[in-house]
Amino acid sequence: MQKEREESNFLHYNMKSIAPTVERGEGIYLYDTNGKRYIDGSSGPLVCNIGHGVKEIGEAYAAQAEKVAYVFRSHFTSKPVEKLATLIAEMAPDGLDKVFFVSSGSEGTEMAAKIAHQYYLELGQERKELIISRWLSYHGITMGALSMSGHLARRKNFVNSLLPYPKICAPNCYHCPEKSAYPGCNLACAHRLRETIQMVGQEYISAFIAEPVVGAAGGAITPPPEYYQIIREICDEFDILFIADEVMTGFGRTGLNFGMEHWNVTPDMIVFAKGASAGYYPLGGVIISDKIFKVLRDGKKGIFAPGHTFSGTPMAGTVGVEVLEYMHRHDLIANVSQLSTYLMDQLKTLYKHPIVGDVRGKGFLLGIEFVKNQESRQPFDFEESGKVAGMIAKKSFENGLIIYPGGGTVDEHRGDHVLVAPPFVIKKDEIDTMVSILDQTIGEVAENLKKGS
Ligand SMILES: Cc1ncc(COP(=O)(O)O)c(C=O)c1O
Repeated sequence: MQKEREESNFLHYNMKSIAPTVERGEGIYLYDTNGKRYIDGSSGPLVCNIGHGVKEIGEAYAAQAEKVAYVFRSHFTSKPVEKLATLIAEMAPDGLDKVFFVSSGSEGTEMAAKIAHQYYLELGQERKELIISRWLSYHGITMGALSMSGHLARRKNFVNSLLPYPKICAPNCYHCPEKSAYPGCNLACAHRLRETIQMVGQEYISAFIAEPVVGAAGGAITPPPEYYQIIREICDEFDILFIADEVMTGFGRTGLNFGMEHWNVTPDMIVFAKGASAGYYPLGGVIISDKIFKVLRDGKKGIFAPGHTFSGTPMAGTVGVEVLEYMHRHDLIANVSQLSTYLMDQLKTLYKHPIVGDVRGKGFLLGIEFVKNQESRQPFDFEESGKVAGMIAKKSFENGLIIYPGGGTVDEHRGDHVLVAPPFVIKKDEIDTMVSILDQTIGEVAENLKKGS
């Protein structure tokens, strides 16, 4: 599958074994330069929601680039960026109407932290600056975003550079951090937020951030129905903003516009990226509530200063508008909600493999957790967490299916999972093909594990 190449100036993910070269993409498929076909079963890292090779996006991009590609946001606004903000506000819950653009998810979560701080600065509460987050979470790789991320593997090399943001445990029902079980647990993991706020002091905390369904760090960990209602109430009780990190879940990935809608909870801010442009342009952003907007606008200067050179350019606006309109025109979110139960049911047939411990998630954001013992839920005990997930993803790639592996799923140290998250355009028979490749792959890896190879 992977070939050694002597001469490349590109710093590769795996410097010892370089990935194949992609030639083109079409729908759910990618083709490499050797003509091999892959099903993109994870939409890259849950990005390519509308599928590959959509001509309309390229055409719109070219037309806008010829007109005007770039303006700085303090000099000009533009029609595409205004239209995109309106489309996003229309998709967002009531009361979240203002959108700020960035170019990635990491920039988005950091921007949300800065907005939260500016909000409290304007209200004269200048010490409210800390962000509480959860373990088993991922909010990005830049230092501020990594400080929020409860992802040990990605944090451990940078610990001294990170901000001292407090963390609570994840709502990880399959390996309950409270050593209890739902519903008898009374959602103790959600109530940890209250305890942490009281210990740290609400006067220091500006916001709590969480992914509605935990993506890369948790293999689609999905909290119980009451969880976010409790979180929302605690945030309100202590005057702390609630930020939903919808970088993975946003724009239809879970079958609704935004993931938090499954819990009927409205956050104060929504961070988005990935699916907003479906990979056709680097685009992310933050949607803020009218409450926050009014405080910022009526504040000392009425200026929102933090931003990036590429925040809200006409190109970003154009691609975002085309992608969202394409999704609406082809009813792609409805396709996710219609086929998600089918996909879940097919994945559940994989329980026949004793190493499949849990299948979970919402919409097309599904996860499979692998265990050494199905009954006791005991994880694999290789020194390197995520090793088995890595073996499965590698074998699956060889077999023509791309999935997204991760580790540390149990307690940051142990655990293996993969995310299965196809583009929204997938059809039923393509789901069957995808699951049959997974079935074969898991069988092959389980066999190799048995043999100790
Ligand atoms: C929930 C979540 N937040 C933030 C990020 C960071 O986004 P980016 O890689 O675009 O910086 C990711 C990336 O996987 C993510 O899944």
